[in-house]
Amino acid sequence: MPHFLQRVKLKNYKSIAVCDVQLGPLTFLVGPNGSGKSNFLDALHFVRDALVGSLDNALNERGGLNEVRRRSSGHPTHFGIRLEFQLASGRVGYYAFNVGARPAGGYEVQREECALSGLGQGPYFHVEAGQVVKCSESAFPAITADRLALVSGSGLSAFRPVFDALVAMGFYNLNPKVIRELQKPQDGRLLKSAGDNIASVVGHLMRAAPQNKVLIEEYLNRVVPSVHGVERMPVGPMESLSFRQDTAGSTHPWRFLAMNMSDGTLRALGILIALFQGTDSQGPTLVGIEEPEIALHPAAAGALREALHHATEHTQVLVTSHSPELLDDVLIPTDALIAVVADSGVSKLAPIDSAAREMLRQRLYTAGELLRLDQLEPDADVLNELGNRQFELFGVAKV
Ligand SMILES: Nc1ncnc2c1ncn2[C@@H]1O[C@H](COP(=O)(O)OP(=O)(O)O)[C@@H](O)[C@H]1O
Ligand SMILES: [Mg+2]
Repeated sequence: MPHFLQRVKLKNYKSIAVCDVQLGPLTFLVGPNGSGKSNFLDALHFVRDALVGSLDNALNERGGLNEVRRRSSGHPTHFGIRLEFQLASGRVGYYAFNVGARPAGGYEVQREECALSGLGQGPYFHVEAGQVVKCSESAFPAITADRLALVSGSGLSAFRPVFDALVAMGFYNLNPKVIRELQKPQDGRLLKSAGDNIASVVGHLMRAAPQNKVLIEEYLNRVVPSVHGVERMPVGPMESLSFRQDTAGSTHPWRFLAMNMSDGTLRALGILIALFQGTDSQGPTLVGIEEPEIALHPAAAGALREALHHATEHTQVLVTSHSPELLDDVLIPTDALIAVVADSGVSKLAPIDSAAREMLRQRLYTAGELLRLDQLEPDADVLNELGNRQFELFGVAKV
């Protein structure tokens, strides 16, 4: 299966002034704290939020337009996002928009484009400030400037697959506290961001994809060897997770509720479910995970890394990390690494520089060792080139 997002361009999104990166089936965004890794992931999450809910909601959840667009002395008035993708059908395309402040207050979608198989060759639309400028379809549903037109456009069969694929991206920042609490039974088809519906997801996997649940349990057991299984457990009108765990002096594993499990175990389970929740008929097109290594023993990193690779058979995986342990593997392809640094408050993202690539290619070091040595830097030539080139969010890619 082709991986979904092929290339991401951002303009003035939070700390990112410009970025233009290619993504593979598995990508590690690596860099120090505060460099902009989460901001990159959040830009993708923003697209999903704005399509599932509304643009207004997506902005408000992040504190409004002023928090989302980059703050700098130059006062950029708008931010933009361009995603180039390949659908499961093999069809390629792009979706791009920018959002800016209106002089009279508030904001608007200044321009929005979606095109499949290249502009003019497949379905496309081009919208400016609430008006359809060009469109391949005979009639486009009603749109307004304060909403993304793709939401209305998803009513047309031509654009529906793009909408569906973008809203099927999942973003995870798993919170053991949320996983530990009793949860309301709810829709368990897609794991929520912090793990809010994890018990329902385990119940759903049990029924819909028991083989995935077995896989999740096998990996969990390698990360936390004392844990042998996990089930959904009704608790009155609520539900929780029940873990089968070895206990000293007992020949049979005991059962423990999520409230008694460690942060590391709960986070690891959340990550594994995020990775392996998909079935052939449905599942995330992309799984973005914030710092999967948190609260895990360094020795668990190998199993975790294997799980990340394994999951790419069914979905695209994008993780942020500053863990040398997670990257301690000579088999991580150099193309899978995007280095992120903050330069006077402005994030720079690019493939790692050629010196680091060469060291990895010769297997003199692992990426983890280079990270420990502070040698994973974005390629200066790539950044210079990006700075010199006209930066276009719209139109068919020329490169
Ligand atoms: N609208 C904005 N304009 C400029 N910088 C921003 C904006 N929003 C957040 N930042 C900066 O982004 C940085 C945090 O980036 P983040 O992606 O969370 O880092 P990390 O690499 O640790 O995940 C902070 O330094 C913060 O000041
Ligand atoms: Mg972060």
